[in-house]
Amino acid sequence: MLSSSFSASLALALGCASLLTFSSAAPSPLKRNQPNIVPPAQLGAGGDPRNAGWNISQGYQPNSSYFVEKPTYQVFSNFDFQSIALALHQEYIELDLFNYGLVKFSDADYDAAGIDAEDRHLIRHFAQQEIGHAVALSNMLGPNAPKMCSYRYDFQTVPEFIDFSQRLTKWGESGVYGFLNLLDNRASAQILLQSITTEARQQFAFRQFEGLFPVPEWFETGIPQSWAWTLLSPWIVSCPKENKPIAFEIYPALNWTNQPDAIAAGQAAGGPSISNNVTALTSEGQENTFQWDYPGKTQGPYQQTTTTHTSGVPKFAAYVSQFNVTYAPLYDVDMDARTAKARQPGGKVYPEGPSLINSTIFVALTSNDAHYTPANLTLINNHVVAGPAIYQAG
Ligand SMILES: *[C@@H]1O[C@H](CO)[C@@H](O)[C@H](O)[C@H]1NC(C)=O
Ligand SMILES: *[C@@H]1O[C@H](CO)[C@@H](O)[C@H](O)[C@H]1NC(C)=O
Ligand SMILES: *[C@@H]1O[C@H](CO)[C@@H](O)[C@H](O)[C@H]1NC(C)=O
Ligand SMILES: *[C@@H]1O[C@H](CO)[C@@H](O)[C@H](O)[C@H]1NC(C)=O
Ligand SMILES: *[C@@H]1O[C@H](CO)[C@@H](O)[C@H](O)[C@H]1NC(C)=O
Ligand SMILES: *[C@@H]1O[C@H](CO)[C@@H](O)[C@H](O)[C@H]1NC(C)=O
Ligand SMILES: *[C@@H]1O[C@H](CO)[C@@H](O)[C@H](O)[C@H]1NC(C)=O
Repeated sequence: MLSSSFSASLALALGCASLLTFSSAAPSPLKRNQPNIVPPAQLGAGGDPRNAGWNISQGYQPNSSYFVEKPTYQVFSNFDFQSIALALHQEYIELDLFNYGLVKFSDADYDAAGIDAEDRHLIRHFAQQEIGHAVALSNMLGPNAPKMCSYRYDFQTVPEFIDFSQRLTKWGESGVYGFLNLLDNRASAQILLQSITTEARQQFAFRQFEGLFPVPEWFETGIPQSWAWTLLSPWIVSCPKENKPIAFEIYPALNWTNQPDAIAAGQAAGGPSISNNVTALTSEGQENTFQWDYPGKTQGPYQQTTTTHTSGVPKFAAYVSQFNVTYAPLYDVDMDARTAKARQPGGKVYPEGPSLINSTIFVALTSNDAHYTPANLTLINNHVVAGPAIYQAG
């Protein structure tokens, strides 16, 4: 679906950028040799700097123990390589998707959906941003950087294209937040951060194009790499044979079978707009019906087999939103039909904040209801029976 002229322009862009490869003479930021870690007891003493042992009447430069004077931006661990290769697969599909959506539909189709020529220009510009992101990430990975693949899409209308893009950029964004602060090379993490914040703006705009409230949440979610790969890999048909397979696991597919129609809700609210009063599409206590797949199916461009580390019996639906996980016990679990039900839980991030379950979030079926915080959420992978799926709660 990628036009050959587009492949060529990407190759050209990659070629030019290779002139900008970075020096690798810098020391490793893994060595934390900074002695002056401020004792926690002093961190809050800023009201009177003398109490913290500093005379800051003229200001001073607090030092980071991770600062590197001559950073290199190349990956230097397998964790970093695999994580950034995954993110690069995401950048590539965005580049392909935005261009494909622009050529698949006519101007009249777009106008009828309330997306005018200047809006279309913004989507075209989003595609071009992906060229830059692909170049930056390819440079971090070096000669083994994966090449662009071929893709499949199942949307038939402009609103379906917008909705798919809104979901895809969400897992792209959240997939990176999940590992960004775990990267061994914080220098490459810095550039990746500066690309993913652009992607977050794309997701925001696609929600606006869909007629949804642009950002109900107070915190954007991070998810494990395997969750992003589980959601992304079905849309990649095949990759050049020199590509190295992505290491991350793929979990059995999860289908939330009675999900709300987000496109209809956006259209009912007047269609594309900067903002509107669309409230949540779901509510606390609402019954969700799920259907999930067996492990052992082949999925994605590298013919990986879907897997689970559990016995395969799901006990909870885990709703991952904002910066935490909220569980609902499953009932009516039918292991033959592979169906189960749960009631959407309530809860808030903070008492004064919005409900946890709103906006574009994630749901997976798990074997237990262990507690996670953002920096250890990846441990949930040991308990995933199926999913995630996107849970379009608002
Ligand atoms: C803080 O530093 C300034 C400038 O060096 C100096 O004039 C002042 O005496 C110092 N104050 C204390 C409390 O050490
Ligand atoms: C920060 O590091 C520089 C260079 O090593 C050193 O000169 C300076 O004193 C340090 N500042 C603090 C606040 O530790
Ligand atoms: C998910 O479930 C819905 C409702 O049963 C069905 O229409 C849809 O085809 C299913 N999707 C997948 C990918 O199985
Ligand atoms: C929409 O939101 C605005 C701003 O909060 C509020 O003033 C208005 O009453 C809302 N309208 C409806 C119909 O909910
Ligand atoms: C999620 O956050 C809410 C609000 O802070 C809290 O009540 C709930 O216990 C949290 N859930 C988990 C699993 O940490
Ligand atoms: C979901 O977010 C929208 C937009 O901020 C808000 O109007 C609505 O009240 C929220 N719903 C819940 C249940 O928090
Ligand atoms: C994750 O970290 C939190 C503390 O931030 C801890 O309470 C929880 O037990 C950890 N989860 C697991 C599965 O270790």
